[in-house]
Amino acid sequence: MASQILNFKELKLESGTVLSDFSLAYETFGNYDSEKNNVVWVCHALTANADVFDWWKGLFGNNDFFNPKDYFIVCVNMLGSCYGSEQAITYAIKNNLNPLDFPLFTIRDIVKSLELLRNHLRIKKIKYLIGGSMGGQQALEWAYLQPLLFENLVVLATNARHSAWGIAFNEAQRLAIKADQTFGSLAENAGEKGLKAARACALLSYRNYEMFVKMQTDEDEKTENFKAISYQQYQGEKLVKRFNAYSYWYLSKAMDSHHIGRNRGSMEEVLKTIKAKTLVIGISSDLLFPIEEQQFIADNIPTAKLVIFDSAYGHDGFLIETQKIANAIQQYF
Ligand code: COA
Repeated sequence: MASQILNFKELKLESGTVLSDFSLAYETFGNYDSEKNNVVWVCHALTANADVFDWWKGLFGNNDFFNPKDYFIVCVNMLGSCYGSEQAITYAIKNNLNPLDFPLFTIRDIVKSLELLRNHLRIKKIKYLIGGSMGGQQALEWAYLQPLLFENLVVLATNARHSAWGIAFNEAQRLAIKADQTFGSLAENAGEKGLKAARACALLSYRNYEMFVKMQTDEDEKTENFKAISYQQYQGEKLVKRFNAYSYWYLSKAMDSHHIGRNRGSMEEVLKTIKAKTLVIGISSDLLFPIEEQQFIADNIPTAKLVIFDSAYGHDGFLIETQKIANAIQQYF
């Protein structure tokens, strides 16, 4: 594994604002083959990072479908995230700004930043582009922008346009963050309590009724201190140790912006121009990105196949059900 941070001069954002002097952190695993024909590019989801071997074990690993013996694997910590790439709080500290003065950016801007890095690495062909959830949103956008770059595309638990339901969930989380009076101050832990509440809210959309009842029902007959409470608290505490409220704020807004058809005609027309051989994977219990959204993508990308599988884990199934995902990829490609 090799970790790098690269600096770039500027990125003209969809809003017209120019983001100057920014960095992108990324990791690579394995080596190029003689013709640089074995590149796998991974786009990660909301709070993940560039170490795909850590968070997508079972699909990425020495003995997994995507392994460093066969592939050169690249994963970039997306713009705005807090694992080494440019993010609101460190940018504000560096430039003596308010963290909320960081420019708003969209999924399209994130993809534009990936293009800068791809050009730097002189990668001309990508064998597999893969992403789930917000990572799938980036992958779809990129596959549209550069139809000849990608041979194969795998998108999981994602959509062509972020839904009103998804935006409402994100706004509920941002309201929790905003209610924390420390949010707005120039400190990495600003909004920490709000972020804990936001994570608790997000988890409800990542799982479902059945999973909570199965895993978090108390056996004794108590009247307080329920397991479900400590689960929600634990997950919030775990997140604030590795993430900050500003990155969460900006990335959730980028997610809201996702709309592959914006100012381009209909989403159907746009999806029809994607050339990569595409596998769309959905999870029947996913409340956040219901399978109609993957059905829509698959109906409109000419080469797409749709695979829906059952999982008790809801949206989180795209992180957990790696055996089913690997089988589907192996069978289709
Ligand atoms: N009280 C306190 N802690 C509890 C608990 C309870 N009642 N029940 C479980 N836990 C702890 C577990 O011990 C475990 O701790 P650890 O992470 O330190 O090992 C943690 O909560 C996770 O447990 P659980 O959710 O049951 O594990 P899982 O295997 O079903 O799921 C993850 C693993 C990583 C997918 C999940 O924990 C997670 O983080 N989900 C959110 C991921 C995400 O961001 N998804 C959306 C992407 S867009």
